[in-house]
Amino acid sequence: MTRKKQYFITGTDTDAGKTYFSSGLLAAGVRRQLKSIGLKPVAAGADYENGVLRNDDALALMASSNTLLPYEQVNPVVLRAPVSPHIAAKQENKIIRVAQLTGYVKGALITPHDLAVVEGAGGWRVPLNDREMMSDLALSLSLPVILVVNMKLGCINHAMLTAESILRDGLPLVGWIANGKDKMLCYEENIQTLIRGMPAPFLGELSYSDEHNASEFDVILAKLLGDN
Ligand SMILES: Nc1ncnc2c1ncn2[C@@H]1O[C@H](COP(=O)(O)OP(=O)(O)OP(=O)(O)O)[C@@H](O)[C@H]1O
Ligand SMILES: [Mg+2]
Repeated sequence: MTRKKQYFITGTDTDAGKTYFSSGLLAAGVRRQLKSIGLKPVAAGADYENGVLRNDDALALMASSNTLLPYEQVNPVVLRAPVSPHIAAKQENKIIRVAQLTGYVKGALITPHDLAVVEGAGGWRVPLNDREMMSDLALSLSLPVILVVNMKLGCINHAMLTAESILRDGLPLVGWIANGKDKMLCYEENIQTLIRGMPAPFLGELSYSDEHNASEFDVILAKLLGDN
């Protein structure tokens, strides 16, 4: 059996493709018969379903995994408004605390598994309260990080700044994913610039397509598992 793999998934921005990547990676894990878990500790932007708030990212991660966890374990903090979590929480008179989130995530990760992805919300420096940020949660969990880069104009700057911040915070950056192959002008030049400039390995690229391209995720998972 492979050693347990756990990752914190961040992105260059909100809508960078963290859920697209995380759910695809979980599905690749399921294809390899790995017990796969996806967590979304904080979600801002949710609708009522049968009287309870449900967030699309959490539901997508659950649908792609093969480890049945209650919704509350997958997404312990679910907030109504699609705004920064610290603002959404304030609107509901709630306070998000990293220490508490850490407990929830560690609790969920007690469930036996081979592969776990913990998806952030927005980017690396998204505030959770007046003091703490999403990066503090990754740090508190001591999880290695994968950065999803949304391949659009401006991505080089966003990717480099985010990678520098992750490393400066002292967490290992496993690598980065190019999301949206050929979606931007001069895609190939941008990829080459990132490969040269990023302080972490390039893990692979994802096509721009409504359907996941399974083989792209299989290749990335194989890399993460250390297959040749
Ligand atoms: N490679 C892709 N091909 C086609 N659509 C994509 C791709 N990547 C992301 N999308 C779409 O772009 C939107 C944003 O992607 P996604 O939800 O994965 O972003 P995110 O980083 O998880 O955002 P959030 O910060 O809200 O969690 C979604 O509708 C998703 O389906
Ligand atoms: Mg998401």
